[in-house]
Amino acid sequence: VPEPDLAGRHVVVTAGGTREPLDPVRFLGNRSSGKQGYALARTAAARGARVTLISANAALPDPAGVDLVTVGTAEELRAAVLKAAGDADAVVMAAAVADFRPAVYATGKIKKQDDQEPAPIALVRNPDILAEISARRARPGQIVVGFAAETDDVLAHGRAKLRRKGCDLLVVNEVGERKTFGAEENEAVVLGADGSETPVPYGPKEALAETVWDLVAARLD
Ligand code: PMT
Repeated sequence: VPEPDLAGRHVVVTAGGTREPLDPVRFLGNRSSGKQGYALARTAAARGARVTLISANAALPDPAGVDLVTVGTAEELRAAVLKAAGDADAVVMAAAVADFRPAVYATGKIKKQDDQEPAPIALVRNPDILAEISARRARPGQIVVGFAAETDDVLAHGRAKLRRKGCDLLVVNEVGERKTFGAEENEAVVLGADGSETPVPYGPKEALAETVWDLVAARLD
């Protein structure tokens, strides 16, 4: 039985990948399964926290003992995070959020014109939720944790992203065949705004989740 070191705490976790609709049948999305976020939610609940899990398009069973909020798009995820973060001790953003969405939503299915080249898809920027909640903490001492999935120069990109986003901790995971998106396992380095670096060896997503909560718990109170 784990230490109930998060008892009396409210934590918000995001999981999954947003889908940005193009028309009633198509969307721009990503390969996030939600497994890492659900592992964070389960482990926080086991450590005694009240957990709000904001889930975007994850095909996973509802975790027991967790308040589940389901969303589709980045805008919906933002609204749910801002609402839940009000009284949260920590917010952990494991979701893969689309940076851009189609500028126009076609209310009817976009048709293929046999005699025409395909039209380019115009995109507009989505709000950066992690940067927003880091800049305007809903309560003093709130701990904000981001994730970054990178393919190259992982630590350099991670350090730059941590500064840009303004969060307390950034979990940097390298995209690979048997880790990050869709896998049961992960491997990461957790960067702290205080300059700390905590490597987490290859293993189940629960193990990375436990390390994240260890680092969060150490920064609370
Ligand atoms: O779901 P799984 O299959 O288990 O996979 C887990 C994971 C790989 C999705 C997860 O471990 C992970 O790395 N999530 C972040 C994915 C990512 O690429 O994030 P990013 O580098 O685009 O964004 C960095 C951070 O900013 C993230 O915390 C993200 O939630 C946040 N963000 C991004 C864009 C945006 N518009 N708003 C945001 O808040």
